Amino acid sequence: MLRLPLLAAARSTSMRRLVEGNPLTRSVVNRFVAGVTTQDALEATRNLHEQGLHITLDHLGEDTLDRGQAVTTTRAYREVLSGLDEAGLADRAEVSVKLSAIGHTLSTDGDKIALDNARQICEAASAAGTTVTIDMEDHSATDSTLDIVSNLRVDYPWVGAVVQAYLRRTEGDCRDLATAGSRVRLCKGAYAEPESVAFQDTSEVDRSYVRCLKVLMRGDGYPMVATHDPRMVQVAGELASNAGRTPENFEYQMLFGIRPDAQERLVSEGNRMRVYLPYGDEWYGYFMRRLAERPANLAFFARALLTR
Ligand code: FDA
Repeated sequence: MLRLPLLAAARSTSMRRLVEGNPLTRSVVNRFVAGVTTQDALEATRNLHEQGLHITLDHLGEDTLDRGQAVTTTRAYREVLSGLDEAGLADRAEVSVKLSAIGHTLSTDGDKIALDNARQICEAASAAGTTVTIDMEDHSATDSTLDIVSNLRVDYPWVGAVVQAYLRRTEGDCRDLATAGSRVRLCKGAYAEPESVAFQDTSEVDRSYVRCLKVLMRGDGYPMVATHDPRMVQVAGELASNAGRTPENFEYQMLFGIRPDAQERLVSEGNRMRVYLPYGDEWYGYFMRRLAERPANLAFFARALLTR
């Protein structure tokens, strides 16, 4: 019931001012976000690395309407990638990028600017010896995001794509993407989407997730199973072993701060487990989507604000 209002709030400027302006919010945000600076991100990466986890770093930010901000975000990614290289962490840490943070939503030449900036990030990742995954945003950007991914893959074939099981089109996209060498992250989807393009019922989304998993596990690509849902994790493991995959041929992914016990267990069972680790000061949209996913998080947030 709260999901849609929270997702609407995630894109509201006045709500953003209210939440960001509250000095107590930060302590709650810290549960989901690694810190603000590149140094914070590298330190958190090292901690997770020492626990046997893989990492994908996300420099927070989205929907930028300012070309200078897109350049600053691109620079931040290049900086963190060279930091990973220098710290000897690039063997297990990559980056995740939202195209809207690097220019995709600019009114003039958005596609071209985002592609140019993404190329610079890929070049830095290549120099560091790691990879890049392009996050998926709302459905209005799905086609152009997949176009940019396929364009980047000409020079950087390891660029990862993300697909969202709640979209009706996604099973077909999985078939197109399940090719040799193709890294594909499957998630349920985190935005408010109309019925015309997306399943609304959670059980329909789950069924779509399983259908997509089947396509990806039986295909020739590298599936990245991004979910905290214990049933989806179990089904993914079964489908992987039925398809003859070993832990090197697929991975699980979860968000920083969510079900860390499950993350630890999957590692101890010999699986590859990657944690999505956001950092930076543009945490508002990311944080609100996490609240929308789980009402218990909202209670946790409210309690923290009231008891301080
Ligand atoms: P579901 O929401 O059904 O949750 C299953 C269980 O997981 C819950 O019962 C609860 O126990 C736990 N859980 C889930 N969310 C929680 C939360 N916020 N706090 C605490 N517990 C929680 N989306 C997108 O649209 N584009 C993208 O690019 C990405 N990228 C991405 C990367 C990675 C690594 C992950 C894990 C997720 C994404 N997502 C995303 C987000 C994704 O689409 C989805 O919104 C969340 O993962 C929640 O869905 P679950 O599959 O976890 O299932």
